[in-house]
Amino acid sequence: MGISYDPTKGLFHLRSPGSSYVLQVLETGLVAHVFWGGALRQPVELGRIAPQLFGEAPATPVLGEAPYPRLSLDLLPQEYPAYGRTDFREPAYQVALDDGSTVTDLRYQSHQIYPGKRPLVGLPATFVERGEDAESLDLTLADEHAGLEVVLTYTVYRELNVVTRSARFTNKGSRRLRLLRAFSGSVDFPDDRFELLQLSGAWARERHLWRRPLVPGIQAIGSTRGASSHHQNPFLALLRPETDEHHGHAYGFSLVYSGSFLAQAEVNHYGQTRVAMGIHPLNFSWLLEPGEIFQTPELILVYSDRGLNGLSQTFHDLFRRFLLRGPYRDRPRPVLLNSWEATYFNFTEERLLELAREAQALGMELFVLDDGWFGRRNDDTSSLGDWEANKAKLPRGLKGLGEAVNDLGLAFGLWVEPEMVSPDSDLYRAHPDWCLHVPGRSRSLGRNQLVLDLTREEVRRFIVDRIGAILRSAPIAYVKWDMNRYMTEVGSAGLPPERQQETAHRYILGLYQVLEELTEAFPHVLFEGCAGGGGRFDPGILYYMPQIWTSDDTDAVERLKIQYGTSIVYPLVTMGAHVSAAPNHQVGRVTPLATRGDVALFGNMGYELDVTRLDPEEKAAIQAQVVRYKRLRALIHRGDFYRLLSPFEGNETAWMVVAKDRREVLLGFYRVLAQPNPRPSRLRLVGLDPALEYELVGQGERWDGDQLMEVGLTVEPYLANTGGDFQSVVLHWRAVGPGKE
Ligand code: DGJ
Repeated sequence: MGISYDPTKGLFHLRSPGSSYVLQVLETGLVAHVFWGGALRQPVELGRIAPQLFGEAPATPVLGEAPYPRLSLDLLPQEYPAYGRTDFREPAYQVALDDGSTVTDLRYQSHQIYPGKRPLVGLPATFVERGEDAESLDLTLADEHAGLEVVLTYTVYRELNVVTRSARFTNKGSRRLRLLRAFSGSVDFPDDRFELLQLSGAWARERHLWRRPLVPGIQAIGSTRGASSHHQNPFLALLRPETDEHHGHAYGFSLVYSGSFLAQAEVNHYGQTRVAMGIHPLNFSWLLEPGEIFQTPELILVYSDRGLNGLSQTFHDLFRRFLLRGPYRDRPRPVLLNSWEATYFNFTEERLLELAREAQALGMELFVLDDGWFGRRNDDTSSLGDWEANKAKLPRGLKGLGEAVNDLGLAFGLWVEPEMVSPDSDLYRAHPDWCLHVPGRSRSLGRNQLVLDLTREEVRRFIVDRIGAILRSAPIAYVKWDMNRYMTEVGSAGLPPERQQETAHRYILGLYQVLEELTEAFPHVLFEGCAGGGGRFDPGILYYMPQIWTSDDTDAVERLKIQYGTSIVYPLVTMGAHVSAAPNHQVGRVTPLATRGDVALFGNMGYELDVTRLDPEEKAAIQAQVVRYKRLRALIHRGDFYRLLSPFEGNETAWMVVAKDRREVLLGFYRVLAQPNPRPSRLRLVGLDPALEYELVGQGERWDGDQLMEVGLTVEPYLANTGGDFQSVVLHWRAVGPGKE
């Protein structure tokens, strides 16, 4: 592992255990991208893999520079392509000079290789705690005419096939510059034999899988909503057509950012593919006064030669070790009861304590009071911003309720939505200009609310002070941080006209600052991100809040797709997964309680239903589910996740978790619709130790690891014999004795 530099050839080789990333500084100072893929012992030179680049191509302007007078940037694979100098593909960045021109040209100046990884100022990013876990490269490029310096930063991890990238712009000149686009990274591939995988959806059906072949031109996904969105996740992958879950090459791109983004793959006329990702350029520009700096978010690149599942496992390991922070990164996550689907806005302290009492009897560990506890909030039309407990509902305030919950033996958690304001609120009446808005335009509402202007220091102070005061006022061990509308009329009363297009990004920087302050001030609090369910399920949020409410859709069948899709990038420990009532509140479906439990088990399990209205049989079943989850959560949250059968491809879903030492295995199998005379389902497990013998816990049956993987398992005998739709089974094996030869 590490970064090496060969000055005679200008070659940088970024090596991880199973991948190489090679770039080359040409004699002219242009920085070419040479290779990204499987590990090379020696870096290869650009001229070796693409000699045709140095000859002239038809109808293609050339730079005309010695020693390659016929070189055109339109064909050259580049590390950070510019606009306007013979490359007609989309650039990674674009800068306007004060003379109105937008042509720039970056050339190599210097570089520095150093152990570890430096934080990105004001932005979330992957990190290392020990210098030996990663090595980094800062590559300094400059356009002297423009007075522009760009530092490209790369990090490789010692044990993972990961390269992270970001770019830092500095105005080194004496004239204003304006950034019109500043992607976090751009990678050129020499061919286009790829399929594009994306995670797309909508509210209540987030992160469904879509896969399509690349074609000439641009194929893009993105969000212009001011949040990473329910609709598109800041992720894409390129897969070879033959790549499947467990075999083949896969290249993943994930942006550590929670705002509007663009991710695109552009295929040109020679079948070269350029993937670029970063802040969405629509309605973005950033003024750089002399001396000012702009830092892009981080882009994570993951390479896998073990299919899509290998790609996911690398993301999972990276996020669990080097993105999540705080004591809850490694601590067991509590089983919670959330009040939302149990009571919605309609509750009293007495009613909440009834729920909490029952939750405790069922073995749960945390009671979470959701929306409706503050101001005059009896529906979603008012009070956001008025963060004072509603005395009619909670006569003893949050403190009284929290203590009473604690007395029952449960931790106490609270819902907040600090980024928002209701027009019907004391806060809005006092500060009507504290929301995003544009002078002379009416203010669009989303869920009856407006977005507070987090670009403004006084607004950020208000949030940190108010939420801080609440957290100090009561024994609050958990916070669900919600955000329920996208941005419109994106403008700030706190910014001058020439900086209005900085508003959306400054908002996200403001959000990160608020989250940094609060998570640092309250390290004992477990924060769970939420945005109308999974509207901001991204690595940026995970840096501050180690779990996220995956979706407002709690239906077990819908959750198969949502959790399966989410697992492409995000580890199970990050996914809030609740067992809710039947009929389900989002889709009206009636599923067995066992199936709801079996789906939620593979996540961060909790409950969200009126537990006071369960019959004794249901109570016993939930009690058993909670016991099982507590026994298994370390395995589920720390093990390797494997997807076996996709809910997007058929009636059955299967997935499994294998402990890192391969001595424990957990399988979940789900059949959505019952079939007459069904054909038996055989599953070949993966990731086991072939030489170990595994015992099915509770059943005594023993299997060799190689049998489970090569011969496979017929699922039918293990399915509950009740028939009907929505069947599931969870099987748990433990290795017995030492491994055999
Ligand atoms: C949206 C969230 O996703 C729900 O879980 C719930 O907290 C509601 N907001 C409350 O308004």
